[in-house]
Amino acid sequence: MSSSVQTTAVRGRFLDIQSLVTQADQIAQNVRYIEDGVLISQNGKIIWLGTWQDAQPHLADVTEVQHYPNQLIVPGFIDTHIHYPQTEMVGAYGEQLLSWLNTYTFPTELQFKDPAYAKKIAQFFVQELLKNGTTTALVFCTVHPESVDALFEAAATIQMRLIAGKVLMDRHAPEDLCDTAECGYNESKALIEKWHGTGRALYAITPRFAPTSTPEQLEKAGQLKQEYPDVYVHTHLSENKDEIAWVKSLFPEQKGYLDVYHHYGLTGERSVFAHCVHLEDAEWQCMHETDSAIAFCPTSNLFLGSGLFPLKKTWEKQVKVGLGTDIGAGTSFSQLQTLNEAYKVQQLQGDKLSAFESLYHATLGGAKALHLEDKLGNFNVGKEADFVVLNLNATALQQLRQSNVKSLEDGLFALFTMGDDRNISATYVNGHCVYQKPH
Ligand code: GUN
Ligand code: ZN
Repeated sequence: MSSSVQTTAVRGRFLDIQSLVTQADQIAQNVRYIEDGVLISQNGKIIWLGTWQDAQPHLADVTEVQHYPNQLIVPGFIDTHIHYPQTEMVGAYGEQLLSWLNTYTFPTELQFKDPAYAKKIAQFFVQELLKNGTTTALVFCTVHPESVDALFEAAATIQMRLIAGKVLMDRHAPEDLCDTAECGYNESKALIEKWHGTGRALYAITPRFAPTSTPEQLEKAGQLKQEYPDVYVHTHLSENKDEIAWVKSLFPEQKGYLDVYHHYGLTGERSVFAHCVHLEDAEWQCMHETDSAIAFCPTSNLFLGSGLFPLKKTWEKQVKVGLGTDIGAGTSFSQLQTLNEAYKVQQLQGDKLSAFESLYHATLGGAKALHLEDKLGNFNVGKEADFVVLNLNATALQQLRQSNVKSLEDGLFALFTMGDDRNISATYVNGHCVYQKPH
């Protein structure tokens, strides 16, 4: 075998969701669990998954099998909405969305005009994702193009699949944080040319939200999407009641909040709308018809007092949904913590979120929300080898709880309730171990 071929083999307890589903009750029958399994990847792609017993003939060219006895290996977590420049401002006290933006967020984001600062935070951010088992994210940068370069450069060092974009914002924010319709368009276009499809990087056209863009800017964003149909659109939608009222007053000619984006050609199969807590019926319908996706961000929705997202409706209305941490309105980088809060948000609405459904949203469902289900989300042969090694017994309390579990699902649910970065033993990106928990 030529020396340029890189083969990795990992042994442990493998768990994933084998195929896409259209209803939550189909997930359990699509769970794949291999008690003593082996995953082999070559040049970043999965080439074989099966039992240790069956693996022997496939291991001929493998020099070392990395064994994680008793650890659970799942597909890398997918974060469908996060702001890297807000890493340093998690836990900013006392405000709801609009005053939180003015009080904390805009001053923080102003710092990213300094490329050295952007680089420092971008590197920290990528490490924090890996430490939490997140291998792909859809990321807001700031208005500064340099902030996008800094993030993609940090991700490229480990060939991480990230989707990101420069914020478009030309009103209702500090002058130094605003671009113009024309320059926002030009800068985004240059970034698309530079980054979209470079290695594993993908670009998202990123208007912050309707109130901070003029109609001219949204029009230019739509033009860009037409010119580059396979780039993403990433923005916020229907998060907070005051925000929604503001949008309606700014765009009285549109039927509602989502209709503003729809009008400018910003809905579609690669469009991701963070929050969607208060969607109206016609908006659910539009999300479905345009195959747009929602990023459900429970820690953020609770922290900013935005409201309770009705996850069950995504199944009823057949709208794609992934999980978002929404750092820094969200309070944790951990998808485990995010699932913990997601469960409680459903409880408060009289609904249940099962452990297997949680796993689905954090992995394959998130991949589908990002239109990447052909590349990510489970261990099917041909997919990209991004996965996370989980220790279910990271604390004394967890050990006690896990020693009492009645089933795989019970143990998984306890992990999703109590887990955080302490449970992440190792994170693999593109077939390589890029994070290992210090002993
Ligand atoms: N809406 C517009 N900007 C933001 C932001 O930075 N965070 C959140 N959570 N919502 C927003
Ligand atoms: Zn956000």
